[in-house]
Amino acid sequence: MDIPLRLSPADMRRLGHLAVDEVVDHLATLRDRPVGGPPDRARMEALFDARLPGGPADPVEVMEQAMAQLRDFIVHTDHPRFLAYIPGPSTFVGAVADFVASGLNVFAGQWIVGAGPAVMERTTIDWLRTLCGLPETGGGLFVSGGTMANLVAVHAARSRRDGLVYVTSQTHGSIRKGLRFLGFDEGRLRIIATDDRHRMDVAALRRRVARDREEGLVPSCVVATAGTTNTGAVDPLGALADLCAAEDVWLHVDGAYGAAAVLSDRAGDLLEGLGRADSIALDPHKWWYQPYEAGCVLVRDETTLTDAFAMNAEYLRETRHGTAPLNYYDLGPQLTRGFRALKLWMSFKTFGLDAFRQAVEHGIALAEHAQDLLLRGDRWDVVTPAQLAIITFRPRLPGAAPGRVDDLTRRIATGTLRDGFALVMTTEIGGRPVLRLCITHPETTARDVTDTIALLERLADEAAGGNGRA
Ligand SMILES: Cc1ncc(COP(=O)(O)O)c(C=O)c1O
Repeated sequence: MDIPLRLSPADMRRLGHLAVDEVVDHLATLRDRPVGGPPDRARMEALFDARLPGGPADPVEVMEQAMAQLRDFIVHTDHPRFLAYIPGPSTFVGAVADFVASGLNVFAGQWIVGAGPAVMERTTIDWLRTLCGLPETGGGLFVSGGTMANLVAVHAARSRRDGLVYVTSQTHGSIRKGLRFLGFDEGRLRIIATDDRHRMDVAALRRRVARDREEGLVPSCVVATAGTTNTGAVDPLGALADLCAAEDVWLHVDGAYGAAAVLSDRAGDLLEGLGRADSIALDPHKWWYQPYEAGCVLVRDETTLTDAFAMNAEYLRETRHGTAPLNYYDLGPQLTRGFRALKLWMSFKTFGLDAFRQAVEHGIALAEHAQDLLLRGDRWDVVTPAQLAIITFRPRLPGAAPGRVDDLTRRIATGTLRDGFALVMTTEIGGRPVLRLCITHPETTARDVTDTIALLERLADEAAGGNGRA
């Protein structure tokens, strides 16, 4: 007799093997395919079958239909020449971990049903806590990504003491979005000036905190960034930690992208002071090569999370009994939650930390290589130097009005989307667009970088009517 909503073991294997073949083929051939192309919603909607299914269908046919629709209609953020944004490649091991976690439908929210996963998550968090230099009182949990990690951290900071929050113009937008979500009054946000390297100006922060105190206001939290999204800059963490300690203000470090570089000696100096933070956001789905979604929030004192998030529900009483229960619903916003930690746990164990270190250092070195290439000719102005794995630049057009340079910069970026060989997008610095390379993929080669810059030069020539220099 058929079991409802259950495939036969043979069909499960058939479907599973097909899925593995699809993913392996994808990974094996990706480099030789385009990064992607401009999305065309009308075309997609015309192609996709939107009818609500009534009866059953062969699972393999359904899977093939899904793959046909997916394959051509995503930009491959895991492509070695996807240089547009920070999120990127993921390890196959991480993808398998996600499959296993959902195949067993692991519930990683409470102790009595998920003790094994809770202990494994705790182990993984301990690895990250130690790497970041936080003390043993620390802890944390996996969340969906940097946005949620920032939200959890800022909520913990405000639960300790509500008051003013200090950011810079370079702070990631998720902080303000999170604060809005938490009902924070924007009038209590302070935007601190940055120095010539787009880092928080500690003297300006000190003056502002003093002025706010004189006015009887209460500083709550300084949000520093370790690896800004725009330029890869790292705020002066040690000096900020000194100031926050002296002022008894919570220091949150948004290291969603850059904290991954703690593995690297090359970035070691930049990240000095990271371990003095009260909380850290760190995204394994960015520079630690995990499939989406994998974000992580770490805190210096785990009781700050329980103070902010502990929940009580009559039907959860038993989850508080037993030996040292570890209920993640007390540490963050979710009760039902998947087992995100497994992918990092399995990836670290499979490849070892040295492989991750080398991959991170490869990105740092390639951004420096890109800088050498850009400075070598007379076609580009480097706007911000290679920092972590990011470099920004714009075309050099001697004598041209800034508006013309800006227009050309944007046209080069949209040209890459049409071309498909590599993807490079813009961000804004000082109110003007710049091209930005984020080189975090461990399989990107020096040749890829050279060829991508050659592509940008060709697109500049085409956009400027055959002569990008004119
Ligand atoms: C510095 C920083 N913080 C936070 C985020 C948001 O992370 P997520 O997209 O995982 O929510 C990003 C995303 O790029 C980021 O670069």
